[in-house]
Amino acid sequence: MTDRATADDQSKPSIARVYDYLLGGKDNYAVDREIGDIFIKELPGSPAIALANRQALIRAVGAMARDGISQFVDLGSGLPTADNVHQVARRHNAEARVAYVDNDPGVVARSRVLLAADGRTTVVQADLREPEVIYHDSGVRELIDFDEPVGVIFSGVLHHLNDAERPAEPVRWWADRVPSGSRFYISHFRSGENGETRVVEQKLQGSLGRGRWRTDEEIIDLFGDLELLEPGLVYCSLWRPDPAPGDGGADNGVGGPELTVWEQLISCALARKP
Ligand SMILES: C[S@@+](CC[C@H](N)C(=O)[O-])C[C@H]1O[C@@H](n2cnc3c(N)ncnc32)[C@H](O)[C@@H]1O
Repeated sequence: MTDRATADDQSKPSIARVYDYLLGGKDNYAVDREIGDIFIKELPGSPAIALANRQALIRAVGAMARDGISQFVDLGSGLPTADNVHQVARRHNAEARVAYVDNDPGVVARSRVLLAADGRTTVVQADLREPEVIYHDSGVRELIDFDEPVGVIFSGVLHHLNDAERPAEPVRWWADRVPSGSRFYISHFRSGENGETRVVEQKLQGSLGRGRWRTDEEIIDLFGDLELLEPGLVYCSLWRPDPAPGDGGADNGVGGPELTVWEQLISCALARKP
């Protein structure tokens, strides 16, 4: 990876800290805000995209836990935030176990501090393009029983792999290793086939060397032979939305709340290994 930053390296932008900035967090530096501001200038709804992504992840983890998934591998887990995967899962299953994986040492350092006293989580510094390293990690093996269904999470991360880096391969690798009934969650920048996403894509490629908006067909292809669960691939905001109190949301023609154009630039789906 060329975009590595250490916990103290403020000279290079970090994907995790740019995302934190867009979510309104404080774990970011001037170099990160510079990239975040490119997002906000070219795609003024970028904070809404980040928020829609995070909220869909929370609902998806809840759905997996309610379906009986009690162990998760969260690939590209990001900086600790308010509702981390283990916290969401434990609202439904107090025993839930989570292996957090990120290639950013700053993310790993902060996550380890937060989770030091939690015996049912582990934090691994690894690149998701090397799944065998993660699979054989001793901390992961202590926590995750790969003979039992696993929730494998790729939330907001595969769009940071360029086509030449074969983003479908890690999904297929895990799909070949985990048992039937395992779940796969992917959220991904969705190409609006418009000038704005193309401009941001070019600027991200120029700064971070990565960042890819994909079409619905390209995102569905990432799931390979996995079986998409209801409602399939949809904008994150429409993925099993929580009913609004007194539900008076405007109709957008698909029966959900009215969406901004920005929220149509991030999609997700949950799938099951048959
Ligand atoms: C946009 S954040 C998403 C965080 C969280 N998954 C979420 O959806 O809220 C993407 C994270 O993926 C990490 N990441 C990017 N490429 C990665 C790779 N090849 N291997 C592991 N982690 C990666 C970044 O460091 C960052 O923390």
